[in-house]
Amino acid sequence: MLNLSLLASGLVLASLASANSKAYPKFGEKQFSQTFHDGYNLLKYMSSLAPYSDRVSYGVDRNTPAGCEVDQAFLLMRHGERYPDAAMFGDDYTKVLSKMKASNVSTWAGDLAFMNEWTYYVEDESMYSQESTTGPYAGLLDAFSRGSEYRLRYGHLWDGKSVVPIFTSGYERVIETARYFGQGFFGYNYSTNAAINIIPEAATQGADSLTPSCAADTNYDTCYIERFFATLPPLHVAAARFNKQNPGLNLTASDVLELMQMAAFELNVRAYTPWADAFTSDEWVSYGYIFDLAYYYCFGPGSEYQIATGQVFANATRVLMESGPKKSGSMFWSFAHDANITPVVAALGIDIPDSHLPSDTVQFPSTYRAADIVPMGGHLTLERITCNATAVSKAGVFVRAVVNEAVVPWTSCQSGPGYSCPLAQYSTMIDKTPKFNEKCGTNASYPQYLDFFWNYNTTTEYNYQKGPIGYQLTDTDV
Ligand SMILES: *[C@@H]1O[C@H](CO)[C@@H](O)[C@H](O)[C@H]1NC(C)=O
Ligand SMILES: *[C@@H]1O[C@H](CO)[C@@H](O)[C@H](O)[C@H]1NC(C)=O
Ligand SMILES: *[C@@H]1O[C@H](CO)[C@@H](O)[C@H](O)[C@H]1NC(C)=O
Ligand SMILES: *[C@@H]1O[C@H](CO)[C@@H](O)[C@H](O)[C@H]1NC(C)=O
Ligand SMILES: *[C@@H]1O[C@H](CO)[C@@H](O)[C@H](O)[C@H]1NC(C)=O
Ligand SMILES: *[C@@H]1O[C@H](CO)[C@@H](O)[C@H](O)[C@H]1NC(C)=O
Ligand SMILES: *[C@@H]1O[C@H](CO)[C@@H](O)[C@H](O)[C@H]1NC(C)=O
Repeated sequence: MLNLSLLASGLVLASLASANSKAYPKFGEKQFSQTFHDGYNLLKYMSSLAPYSDRVSYGVDRNTPAGCEVDQAFLLMRHGERYPDAAMFGDDYTKVLSKMKASNVSTWAGDLAFMNEWTYYVEDESMYSQESTTGPYAGLLDAFSRGSEYRLRYGHLWDGKSVVPIFTSGYERVIETARYFGQGFFGYNYSTNAAINIIPEAATQGADSLTPSCAADTNYDTCYIERFFATLPPLHVAAARFNKQNPGLNLTASDVLELMQMAAFELNVRAYTPWADAFTSDEWVSYGYIFDLAYYYCFGPGSEYQIATGQVFANATRVLMESGPKKSGSMFWSFAHDANITPVVAALGIDIPDSHLPSDTVQFPSTYRAADIVPMGGHLTLERITCNATAVSKAGVFVRAVVNEAVVPWTSCQSGPGYSCPLAQYSTMIDKTPKFNEKCGTNASYPQYLDFFWNYNTTTEYNYQKGPIGYQLTDTDV
């Protein structure tokens, strides 16, 4: 590394100039920041209801390793930042807010002093469940920016004339995310060169789905944060504090759990939430851990059924990588929900803790961080890279996994350039994953494998919303 303090002390080494063609920064300006604030970023503890944040990286360069070229890219992205669901969240939040109002506190004090001016951010109930459009963390903005960024990164994969399918599960906010991503990626060519393919979320799709559901997983429907909250009671401390500061108020720990979720959602709509500071950092850590537990046990590596569910996407993309871009295409942009991504990440063998997460105590630091996998707009990107011979490896085809823009090497497979995994070894690894149909008992009358990556429509009919945005309540999203 170049030591710029030498420059500052007057020891200008002329030869350094050629080592890096970039212009030198201003006198005295640091080349590298010495601070690492990520560990304190509240977004990491507000978890999956909070706006997008990049995954904490191991430091492997996100750019394609020297001597290599990405020839296939696969994306599986969660919808962007959004409003709460009316049924799942909205009603619960308004219930707690009404309770607070009914407690007749005339002037809010202490950590809740901001309540004297604060208003609930859902001004129009028709926005429940939908992507957000306001504030710096707006969902549609996130989707468009990601598309535009990916054009810069993967634009070479488009020949400038083909019609490229974009796959989305059949849920309004997911479809909108796919559309805005497409507009970001294709720009003026979106209306003619992107083809939105909507894959229904219905269980009758079997394995031919971005949202496959595991019939044998009878745990699934009741598995959610409340289950873990019951055994993990740290939020009563916040409730007691607020009640003490505001006589007449009678919040419970479960009210606090609702308020913290509501706070995370506020940032999906507004630049700032005063609720962030109402809770201590320990309380946010506990809250985040409740989500880690839920994703781990309900939708992640803590469930064999969920790993098998993730096998569908892991296997289909693996098959595409084996046949390569010339035969099978070079871009596969897919959109679904958080609980459809964590199973795939688990099936890929990423983020598998050495032992199950304890549910009777807050594990800190958590060995499974949902905020690093599925924040709003969270995404898994798989790259097939073709490389010339390098000092570390022979010429060949390799695979890299990128989760929320951080390269995540496999501990058992990283002999390729930039810690990538040789495709043959990758295939063997994916082959060992529990199989969806076997493990989940897919109804024999439903499709038994994913087909739409091969048989898609090139019609642009669904590229834009016709009529009003739907109001959907049957959610697979948490
Ligand atoms: C691989 O090597 C060939 C022949 O030298 C060269 O044309 C090509 O640009 C190289 N590819 C990459 C990705 O560096
Ligand atoms: C709040 O004030 C209303 C009207 O005076 C009263 O009916 C209600 O019981 C009060 N609520 C509490 C919790 O004291
Ligand atoms: C893409 O858009 C540009 C700008 O409108 C246009 O010149 C070009 O012909 C378009 N390409 C295709 C394949 O339609
Ligand atoms: C393609 O279009 C046909 C006819 O509208 C439809 O039945 C089919 O489900 C579509 N396939 C995909 C992958 O969107
Ligand atoms: C506070 O609420 C609990 C139930 O949530 C209730 O049992 C208790 O009586 C309430 N206390 C006051 C002072 O209203
Ligand atoms: C399988 O699907 C068929 C057709 O939808 C349905 O009639 C049958 O009940 C399903 N079987 C099971 C075990 O769910
Ligand atoms: C893998 O995916 C391909 C393509 O969808 C499919 O034909 C094959 O049956 C799948 N294999 C397994 C083991 O799921």
